[in-house]
Amino acid sequence: MPIIHVFPGSSISIGRDVCLISRSFATALGVNHPVVLRTLRSIAQIRIGDRVGISGGSICAAQCVEIGDDTMLGANVTIADTDFHSLSPCRRSGHTDASIAVERVIIGKRVFIGTNSIILKGVSIGDNSVIGAGSVVTRSIPANAIAAGNPCRIIRALTAQEMAL
Ligand SMILES: CC(C)(COP(=O)(O)OP(=O)(O)OC[C@H]1O[C@@H](n2cnc3c(N)ncnc32)[C@H](O)[C@@H]1OP(=O)(O)O)[C@@H](O)C(=O)NCCC(=O)NCCS
Repeated sequence: MPIIHVFPGSSISIGRDVCLISRSFATALGVNHPVVLRTLRSIAQIRIGDRVGISGGSICAAQCVEIGDDTMLGANVTIADTDFHSLSPCRRSGHTDASIAVERVIIGKRVFIGTNSIILKGVSIGDNSVIGAGSVVTRSIPANAIAAGNPCRIIRALTAQEMAL
């Protein structure tokens, strides 16, 4: 079973035919922990579209994390729209300080995110794009691109042939 924590007043919506894999026997690479879906504030939203696949990753929203239809998250992907702690040393221990950076994350439709990738606050990933395994995505990636690395950079566009298949 996934771990789902809904902060009072916040919302988590999950579309039709979504597959949340929380145990290693059900996915090729195995998972490090059950799927975690967690909202952190009353205004927060997590919106997961139809037919999305998630294997053992974590999605945390202080504001909004949206995942489009038919997107696949490889094993152990982390997505968060917040830094969780203030950069200011004297305020760092709290979780609700106004100085904590929060910016929504929007993942498009038919996106494929490689295993162990981390998607940080403020990132949008356009429809159809591929994020390589182990990437740390700090800036937005346009549609129809292959991007990878730390920090994640565009490698190339999907070819017409790849788009057609
Ligand atoms: C991103 C990916 C699809 C690219 O595949 P590809 O088009 O065959 O790309 P190539 O292997 O030709 O690599 C192209 C360049 O990108 C780099 N690259 C590829 N994947 C990378 C990654 N994950 N991180 C950093 N760089 C990467 C290569 O080093 C190469 O760089 P170079 O041109 O300087 O030599 C693939 O490498 C990948 O990461 N697949 C994800 C697999 C996965 O996690 N599946 C989910 C399982 S649950």
